[in-house]
Amino acid sequence: VNRASRAPSEKTTSRGRGTELDLSLDGVPRGRRALSLADALRRRIADGTLRPGTQLPSSRQLAHDHGVSRGLVVSVYEQLVAEGHLTADGGSGTSVADLTHDLSAPRRARIEVPAVAGMNPGQPDPALFPRREWQRAGQRALADLPDLAFAYGEPRGHLPLRSALRGYLGRTRGVDTDEDRILVTSGFAQCLNIVVQTFTRREGRAVIAVEDPGSAGAAAQLTWLGARVVPVRVDGRGIDVAELRRTDAQAVVVTPAHQYPTGVTLASERRHELVDWARSTGGVIVEDDYDAEYRYDRAPLTSLHALGSQHVIAAGSVSKSLSPSLRLGWMVAPDDLVPDLAAAKANADLGTSVLTQATLATFIDVGALDRHLRRTRTVYRRRRDRLIHGLGASELDVSGIAAGLHLVLALPPSSDAGELAEHARRLGFAAQPLDRYRHRPGPPGLVLGYAALPEHAIDSAAAALLDAIG
Ligand SMILES: Cc1ncc(COP(=O)(O)O)c(C=O)c1O
Repeated sequence: VNRASRAPSEKTTSRGRGTELDLSLDGVPRGRRALSLADALRRRIADGTLRPGTQLPSSRQLAHDHGVSRGLVVSVYEQLVAEGHLTADGGSGTSVADLTHDLSAPRRARIEVPAVAGMNPGQPDPALFPRREWQRAGQRALADLPDLAFAYGEPRGHLPLRSALRGYLGRTRGVDTDEDRILVTSGFAQCLNIVVQTFTRREGRAVIAVEDPGSAGAAAQLTWLGARVVPVRVDGRGIDVAELRRTDAQAVVVTPAHQYPTGVTLASERRHELVDWARSTGGVIVEDDYDAEYRYDRAPLTSLHALGSQHVIAAGSVSKSLSPSLRLGWMVAPDDLVPDLAAAKANADLGTSVLTQATLATFIDVGALDRHLRRTRTVYRRRRDRLIHGLGASELDVSGIAAGLHLVLALPPSSDAGELAEHARRLGFAAQPLDRYRHRPGPPGLVLGYAALPEHAIDSAAAALLDAIG
């Protein structure tokens, strides 16, 4: 009995009834042979070597082949029948059960849960994820990790990643810090989570100002976490700091480099006003640097951290640059917040997966992130240019185009933005009505994510969308 089985139809072998089995019990102590045989059969069923319907050798045959008692084989077969791995076919023998049949049977009602992140216009193209380079970095990181790395890690994150981030944020965003002040998070979402935990513990309730319009997901998450959310108006120069001053917010979440979703850049005097607000009130600025890597027509903007490192949490993630599925982000925090934020992180999840962190550290250290960004920036710039060209056939105002993975298209006054967003989604855009991001009413618009639309499809999609707008 030496050959693996091949197909369900292969029911007869040179040895007679039942497929041949490539099993070896050589060297297995007598007392463990039943366990070993059962394990081997389970493994072959699980990995598909033994497919549903495959008939097994008779107990007599198998016992003979392995020099074990027939009773032992019978008891193993009975055990696997009881587990549902095998079926006893009465007179015709024992075969592998059709587990797929059982699994597909509607034995339990489905449980639907709400999606955490809906159709988001800022998503990168998942087809551009650098699988090979990521795999290489992962293999290298795994080989290099010391044994100690497989214990619980330090709650702020894997030190080599914090070092890599220190270098990366220093050279790309002007963030001057050290590893002590960097925390690795499960994306920007967890940054918000632990900020709220920290303020709730310190002040009883977190009061967090957000941009209006601003990230709908962030506002919903903050509310869900029990924070009081205070919307502050955004105009053509970014967040209105005078309005922020009239609130009692302990922290404000801003997107200065490319305001989400309008795409405006926070004007220089507003950047200074904002840091002055933080200095004079003790408030904290949470800078969400969500798509800073993708800028097309201008030099990178320095993080607000450079203006006031003790008042700014400079946060970011790889959700745009690599993939939101990695759930990897970071925050560079003011000194007095680091211990509380680290405690909140530790109590949330005892730390982010070290293997994933180590992979990103290697990915950054070997220059793969820079190469990936150069490559994808070119792809996204071309898609953006094509879309702007396509939308240029109309008089509609297009804004927020200098960076990121989406733009804003102003709609004629009486448009149904919800319906048009749905139409745009059918055309392949990641689209939402601008109202979705507003806390107070405003003129209709569409937030159009173009990152995942192949260049050749953009002309016709833009034309069809303009047609629908009328
Ligand atoms: C404004 C904004 N900030 C941050 C993020 C990223 O969140 P995370 O890092 O948790 O994936 C997104 C995701 O779409 C976003 O739209």
